[in-house]
Amino acid sequence: MPLGQAIPDPGPLSAGRVGLRVVRPADAGELQRLLRENRDWLQPWEATHPSGRSVVPGSVPMRPTIRLQRRQLRAGSGVPFVVLFDGNVVGQLSISELSGGALQSSQIGYWVSRHVAGNGIAPTAVALAMDFIFGELGLHRVEICIRPENVASLRVVQKLGLRYEGRRGDYIHIDGAWRDHDCFVATRDEGPMLARLTSLGR
Ligand SMILES: CC(C)(COP(=O)(O)OP(=O)(O)OC[C@H]1O[C@@H](n2cnc3c(N)ncnc32)[C@H](O)[C@@H]1OP(=O)(O)O)[C@@H](O)C(=O)NCCC(=O)NCCS
Repeated sequence: MPLGQAIPDPGPLSAGRVGLRVVRPADAGELQRLLRENRDWLQPWEATHPSGRSVVPGSVPMRPTIRLQRRQLRAGSGVPFVVLFDGNVVGQLSISELSGGALQSSQIGYWVSRHVAGNGIAPTAVALAMDFIFGELGLHRVEICIRPENVASLRVVQKLGLRYEGRRGDYIHIDGAWRDHDCFVATRDEGPMLARLTSLGR
């Protein structure tokens, strides 16, 4: 069942040098540049359409895409954040697959530019997003699904102490084929994620 309500723009969220805010049309140029520069870095992990009609990210003007992404807020179907590091746009994090009803669930996806990788940006950004999902949206569950080959992303969920729930075979169409994904979760009753990330110190 869909969420069935608009999602209020949470405004900027931040922890130390890392921030999240909803993407704006004015981010189009910078995002397009980052997507182009990071083509090889992102391609193995990028969602594609089984029809083969996927648009290569960064190859078309981003403004129409950003407008569509922002509409997700009003529709209650997603939250499209940009990831900030020292105030600069360095990636994206999206909340998707929002379910209301008896599920109260969501998924998170993310990327950061290669030039800032290794600074612990993604774990902090995910913790900020999860605290928003559990705190502001009041949802029960967050899932992050990762290709087993994606060692860097597996470290992100490990640093956050997410629970491994198992492998979904041929789960998402990524980089031109159906790919297995390992799924990691946390539920609201587990408490604030930013505090957990800090206390685990992994
Ligand atoms: C996965 C990703 C988001 C991690 O972001 P991050 O902000 O670099 O996260 P961290 O700093 O915590 O680093 C996580 C791991 O990445 C690896 N890593 C760090 N710097 C790296 C670099 N320059 N190049 C490649 N891998 C690197 C390390 O294994 C690191 O683990 P460690 O801290 O134990 O050494 C980022 O690598 C990325 O955007 N990759 C491409 C897109 C992608 O995989 N998205 C996720 C799909 S599920």
